[in-house]
Amino acid sequence: MLKEITYKNPLTFVVPKPYIVVNKRAEACLLMEYVNGHRFDSIFLHYLINESHKSKDILNSFGVALGEFHSLTLENLPQSSFPLTPSQLKKEVILLSENLEQKEIINKNLLHRILDFTETAQVSDKIFVTVTLHGELYFTHVFVLSDKFVLFDLHNILRGPSYFDLAMFALSIRVSLAFSAFSTRKFDPLLCSFLMGYYKNHCEKKIFESIKVAEIYVALREIMSLCYLKKIPLIVRLQNALKIQRLRHVIDQSVKADI
Ligand SMILES: Nc1ncnc2c1ncn2[C@@H]1O[C@H](COP(=O)(O)OP(=O)(O)OP(=O)(O)O)[C@@H](O)[C@H]1O
Ligand SMILES: [Mg+2]
Repeated sequence: MLKEITYKNPLTFVVPKPYIVVNKRAEACLLMEYVNGHRFDSIFLHYLINESHKSKDILNSFGVALGEFHSLTLENLPQSSFPLTPSQLKKEVILLSENLEQKEIINKNLLHRILDFTETAQVSDKIFVTVTLHGELYFTHVFVLSDKFVLFDLHNILRGPSYFDLAMFALSIRVSLAFSAFSTRKFDPLLCSFLMGYYKNHCEKKIFESIKVAEIYVALREIMSLCYLKKIPLIVRLQNALKIQRLRHVIDQSVKADI
């Protein structure tokens, strides 16, 4: 897969060059090029402290780069099972939140606010375009390398609706414990630049609201998957409890704040 992407000669991003796959019984290990780029978290911190325009420009360029990645045509990619229409997306948000309320992982108050928000939110068809998704687009899986971006950890690559990567990227920044001293909405201007880059400046207010609904969907999914993990060490259980708390906080802020 990494080779196939490199052969396409993308203009705005690269992936690490693969060298060799080492197989040992049921386990395999991929040796690849070590890429020495800038991590995204230093760029976010710079923005949070100085409100620097440079950070916004970088996010805008990353939006453009993700657009190029999404338009790749690659062989034999699996198909996602993510919701494909506004009504399916809303229905899934409602189902997941009701389920989590029954499990007492979110309270009734938050459930009702999610339902109210979802009912009135405008969701644009534009976010459902089928693309090549990274599939796990946490900001930690992206480096900045001079004027290009490096994408890591592509083992979940698949075809599916574009909102999945857009929402996952936004959510991963808001939930990061590295920025827990800051309001989760403080990243909105940066994410606005990112979406502007992705949609080539044709990014109306409805898209921002749509991605917010998608973020809630991705956050609820994450909470659900963390709840189902069994037989895990205590330390991982504690980390997951912290993650769930943070995800719940992000959802709470999203359904509260004005666009
Ligand atoms: N080829 C590389 N060159 C430089 N840094 C890399 C490379 N591959 C991965 N990294 C760094 O290591 C981190 C973890 O790598 P990766 O995501 O592939 O492993 P992982 O087992 O999925 O870990 P995690 O659960 O943290 O995502 C990446 O987020 C990236 O910062
Ligand atoms: Mg990873």
